[in-house]
Amino acid sequence: MKTIDLSGGMVFITGGGGSIGGAIAVEAAHAGASVAVADFKLDAARQVAETIVAHGGVAHAYQVDVTQAESVREAMADAVEGLGPMVGLVTAAAILRTGSVATQSEAGWHEIMAVNVEGTFKSVQAAVEYLRQTRGAIVTLGSVSAYIGSEEGAAYTTTKGAVLSFTVASAGDLAPLGIRVNAVSPGWVDGGFTHEAMSHMDDPQQLVETANRMHYLGRMATPTDVANAAVWLLSDQAAFVTGTSLLVDGGYMIKRG
Ligand SMILES: NC(=O)c1ccc[n+]([C@@H]2O[C@H](COP(=O)([O-])OP(=O)(O)OC[C@H]3O[C@@H](n4cnc5c(N)ncnc54)[C@H](O)[C@@H]3O)[C@@H](O)[C@H]2O)c1
Repeated sequence: MKTIDLSGGMVFITGGGGSIGGAIAVEAAHAGASVAVADFKLDAARQVAETIVAHGGVAHAYQVDVTQAESVREAMADAVEGLGPMVGLVTAAAILRTGSVATQSEAGWHEIMAVNVEGTFKSVQAAVEYLRQTRGAIVTLGSVSAYIGSEEGAAYTTTKGAVLSFTVASAGDLAPLGIRVNAVSPGWVDGGFTHEAMSHMDDPQQLVETANRMHYLGRMATPTDVANAAVWLLSDQAAFVTGTSLLVDGGYMIKRG
């Protein structure tokens, strides 16, 4: 049986200290990759790296701010030197800001664009020189929000739409260099931003029940559900897949009511 094999290569993950990024780090390590866990929150990145190492894998934690190209470039150079040739980049770093078009502050708008959109661009650009050498792959983080919007989420929705368009543009630009670029687009994920939203609610259980109902498969995704799809897209098993947004949404997008 064919298995997903990333051994001998390094996967660099922004937002690797987060819920989905952390799960991708763990699954990339299961597939044999060494992992650079890069996050604004160094403690969170360290925890993920330590978990991987405790299970026999190879990982380093890096403090990066994806809004600062130099910070990403420095971490990537160090990771390539210490962990091996980069075969994959995953851009999971992002922030969530709520507000409708009518109420969204300009400052909040710029802040979320800087992390979710420009941070994705800066991370991808920094990785090109390394990935062209290995004919590696990139996975960005989209969302069903990119297609159908999200309540009180004008800016967030816009960033996810931009990430998907950027993914398509990058897939075309980087194909001649042998680099594939795809997105994974989850529905609700039981972790990260969903838990952050729940922490501001009087009745978080009601949100869980509503979210579960919205997926044909009757539940939210686990971070590992998303990670498995991302690692597959990084692997040679997806050798002819580029420029796509893979819905990992339990049927959310096709559910009628
Ligand atoms: N949770 C969901 O339901 C859901 C659904 C669809 C898509 N997504 C996407 O998945 C990705 C990960 O989200 P999550 O739910 O795991 O959230 P999360 O908050 O657990 O992870 C995001 C990580 O990004 C890091 N980060 C933020 N700003 C940064 C910066 N400037 N530089 C470096 N790192 C930075 C955070 O510290 C955090 O660890 C995001 O792109 C999000 O849009 C999440």
